[in-house]
Amino acid sequence: MDRNFAMEFVRVTEAAALESARLMGRGDEKSADFAAVDAMRRMLSSIQFDGTVVIGEGERDEAPMLYIGEKVGKGGGPKLDLALDPLEGTTICASGGSNSLSVIAIAEEGQFLHAPDTYMQKIAVGPEAKGAIDLKATPTENLKNIAQAKNCLIEDLTVVILDRPRHSDLIAEVRQTGARIWLIGDGDVSAAIATCKKSSGVDVLMGIGGAPEGVIAAAALRCMGGDFQGRLTFRNDLEKDRARRMGISDLNRVYPIHELASGHVMFCATGVTQGTFLDGVRFVRGGAITHSVVMRSESGTVRWIQAEHHFDRKPRY
Ligand code: FBP
Repeated sequence: MDRNFAMEFVRVTEAAALESARLMGRGDEKSADFAAVDAMRRMLSSIQFDGTVVIGEGERDEAPMLYIGEKVGKGGGPKLDLALDPLEGTTICASGGSNSLSVIAIAEEGQFLHAPDTYMQKIAVGPEAKGAIDLKATPTENLKNIAQAKNCLIEDLTVVILDRPRHSDLIAEVRQTGARIWLIGDGDVSAAIATCKKSSGVDVLMGIGGAPEGVIAAAALRCMGGDFQGRLTFRNDLEKDRARRMGISDLNRVYPIHELASGHVMFCATGVTQGTFLDGVRFVRGGAITHSVVMRSESGTVRWIQAEHHFDRKPRY
């Protein structure tokens, strides 16, 4: 995969972030999401490649744009699969909260798990704790192993968990271990990535969130040298059928990071609202400033890009 694509794709997340950030705090999730989707799709069609959305806005009958299986790109280039979320954290953006992002992961054909739009049990850690996680073990065992790998006390660890009733047992068990907990309202992709950034203060992500977001987070952590495991969880038989239709035969499988996102992977994210590891879009006179991260698993290079956009020289956002 040509490394120069990384720069092409960061323009895509920048455009989606710029469009949706205009709608920050309006209380209108749908409009913010639509703005991001529309901008992302437009920018994708300016890039010379044959893209297929593998992780996207949903199935064809429920998502008009960037649906699973949609062909994107200008054509006439390499065949690439995309795992994307034009606005990860729609509620966050609509309420002006922290850590909404525009994200896209790119790989050669067939390298992303075709995850159905169900839930996924997840655990994510940064490079220091790579190899120390196991979704088949209890949260307590995982935290012991992570603390050992990081050469610290369990009490020193900060665990991010989505604040949901389904996590009451998990939260109780983590409290019992003495680890600190950071409950978040939304945005577990950002939390997973934060485990790889020391200054974030986040050591572990645990709990159940969206399965598509799990694949996207795994792609990011592949680039950053972190670790991730996921197991699909289903609310009903319909969801199980959907998973089977998408080619998942073992519904209880624990997916290691390289089965969620394998081969050479690129990942780009731009902050929409201000966040733990990426600042949000700031509109200034005549333009805007965006903050993005671009990374490649092959080289492990992580680039932080602050971009100044001048609206008089390119389409307005
Ligand atoms: P959206 O961007 O689709 O709103 O997802 C936000 C999010 O918080 C994800 O980060 C997370 O994986 C998922 O929703 C959790 O789902 P739920 O809100 O149903 O618990």
